[in-house]
Amino acid sequence: MAKIIDEISRTFNEYLIIPGLTTKKHTPDNIDLKTPLVKFKKGEEAAISLNIPFVSSIMQSVSDSGMAIALAKEGGLSFIFGSQSVESQAQMVRTVKKHKAGFVESRANLTPEHTLKDVLELKERTGFSTIGITDDGSAEGVFLGLVTGRDYRISKDAPGKKVKDFMTPFADLITAKVGLSLSEANDVIWQNKLNTLPIIGDDQRLHYFVFRKDYNSHKENPNELLDAQKRLRVGAGINTRDYKERVPALVDAGVDVLCIDSSDGFSEWQKDTIDFIKEYNSDVLIGAGNVVDHEGFLYLAEAGADFIKVGVGGGSICITRETKGIGRGQATALIEVAKARDEYFEKTGEYIPLCSDGAIVQDYHMTLALAMGADFLMMGRYFARFDESPTRKLLIGGNYVKEYWGEGSNRARNWQRYDMGGNSNLKFEEGVDSYVPYAGKLKDNLDQTIGKIRATMCSCGTISLNELQTNAKLTLVSSTSIIEGGAHDVIVKDTNN
Ligand code: IMP
Repeated sequence: MAKIIDEISRTFNEYLIIPGLTTKKHTPDNIDLKTPLVKFKKGEEAAISLNIPFVSSIMQSVSDSGMAIALAKEGGLSFIFGSQSVESQAQMVRTVKKHKAGFVESRANLTPEHTLKDVLELKERTGFSTIGITDDGSAEGVFLGLVTGRDYRISKDAPGKKVKDFMTPFADLITAKVGLSLSEANDVIWQNKLNTLPIIGDDQRLHYFVFRKDYNSHKENPNELLDAQKRLRVGAGINTRDYKERVPALVDAGVDVLCIDSSDGFSEWQKDTIDFIKEYNSDVLIGAGNVVDHEGFLYLAEAGADFIKVGVGGGSICITRETKGIGRGQATALIEVAKARDEYFEKTGEYIPLCSDGAIVQDYHMTLALAMGADFLMMGRYFARFDESPTRKLLIGGNYVKEYWGEGSNRARNWQRYDMGGNSNLKFEEGVDSYVPYAGKLKDNLDQTIGKIRATMCSCGTISLNELQTNAKLTLVSSTSIIEGGAHDVIVKDTNN
């Protein structure tokens, strides 16, 4: 007979936090959310720490370069999805590393031989009305001109009119050379009453645009997650099949940290991948997972993982538990793995950060996960709702939504994530294709969420995440106390009336 674990597999919803003594020093401004991303020895500091305990999921519908830039600006980190070609993933990493506040890579480009029809189609598809005209139509090509809405009249100009006949040519444009500061660029914009300043490198190649409209958002963010050269930090997901090609390309592109993306990380494939990476370059940082118990943690810790990800089957788009019957309630998984991590630290003096992956529904679940021992949280659904996620925003049934699909869905076709080795071609879905309610800008939502975490930590009388992990008191709740926790026995006013 199989070994039966008596302990019930529990979710975040089944716990609450009991307040501790709040002293006068426990104000939201004093709370420190800095947290280690990778392992470190007792008494030392982690090579990379996050300024807020959030990373975005290794998913096509969540983490591209746009999300990575937005999240690193707020102090978190994205892991760029690995279910794409090595070249395009490395290019996304490069885009983040090249990013400079206020300097935007041109995201809509054509050649002089294209037509007005192409311009209109590109504008419709991308939403960008400033189009860089380069010799090869790429964002880094030789810069030949600019097209904006002021260069054509749809009612008068024929759709077949060539771009070269209505663009503002390079010779008539005011441009600046790479290397000037943002405030210098803004001076040029103001002095010349420009809307867009193209920034050009050697050989007249296009590097960036600086836009007048972005002026107000250029202010530096003190929380930004930067490397030693003041570039934004970025992570990337890899799989256990093509790592020998993928890892060198990502390292070459400047990636800060890697993570093996798998629904079940307790496998020899993960150990082989870590062995390869550490031999290739022992400075490369690599997270592994996902595991849900003591044994899984120990296996990956001994394999050399720099952080370990916890969670099987709890993701909002996940149907792994229904299809394969594997998984564990996220709270129980986290509590057991955190105990294993603490014992390992005690024994070896090596602290391995834990990432709680998936199953966060309410903001307070985040504080619970952190109190249960997670050092940071990976979230998909949470980030998919924002402007910065790479998916389409649609109007469905009168409400704005964003698309959000699992890596194990037919849409993503990321079969490597569910790879069990061998050559089997049998594929089945472990994720769904869905919509999530559109929630606006990442920064606005993050500010609210972080505000709630800070407030809860004040209530607990804890000033740092380490104190939260050590001092917080958690309690299980009964199903009736969950009802007590919501508005009850009152007639809630309909605020629409
Ligand atoms: P969420 O934050 O609850 O939406 O969960 C996101 C997490 O679900 C990701 O970080 C992955 O670990 C996991 N995940 C992503 N795609 C799939 C899938 O198709 N099936 C199962 N789990 C998935």
